[in-house]
Amino acid sequence: MAKTQSKRKRSGSSKSRSKSSGASRSSSSRSSTRSTSRRGASSRSGGSSRSRRSASPRQQDAIALLRADHKNVSDMFDEFERRKGRLSPDKKMEIVQTICRELEVHTQIEEEIFYPAAREAVKEQDLLDEAEVEHGSAKELIRQLQDGQPGDEMFDARVKVLGEYVKHHVKEEQGKLFPMVKKSRLDMRGLGEQLMMRKQELMGQMEGQFQGGMQE
Ligand SMILES: [Fe+2]
Ligand SMILES: [Fe+2]
Repeated sequence: MAKTQSKRKRSGSSKSRSKSSGASRSSSSRSSTRSTSRRGASSRSGGSSRSRRSASPRQQDAIALLRADHKNVSDMFDEFERRKGRLSPDKKMEIVQTICRELEVHTQIEEEIFYPAAREAVKEQDLLDEAEVEHGSAKELIRQLQDGQPGDEMFDARVKVLGEYVKHHVKEEQGKLFPMVKKSRLDMRGLGEQLMMRKQELMGQMEGQFQGGMQE
């Protein structure tokens, strides 16, 4: 069943990664990123009411929001590593599905909103190129995990390598990219609002797909 859910979810999420959704949204997000709080596409009321984690999203600047995501997912990888020997296959799959969902949303909001804004704001384009390549590698592992199940020979190894990949990527973002973006003239509050709105929208869509799979 977990496998069925993962396939369902993937059909509406990971395929929209990188160029497709990113490109289609990038013109709007790129043009807005220096401005204040243009809500843009992110203000569309997509997703179910269940997706609204709170009635009014907490105001958070872009870097605080992305850092919170990093910590959350890093904690989940640590939990998996700590407990994997004692977890049932279903519980393992549940944690991995949550990690994958969080990563898919996080990489998508960075690619659609944060990276295009950073590209306009900082000179170091190489850093952003590398970040997008790293996202691509992480997504490949995510896809393999979603295609597999905990009994597979390589399942635990894939989770571990994905965790190491993500931690390396986070170190680069937090150690190099974020400080540069912070020093730029970007409106971090406005950007944070766009990221939060889009994140809620995507989480709502994914939860809807997940629930749909459960009901089948
Ligand atoms: Fe990130
Ligand atoms: Fe990233």
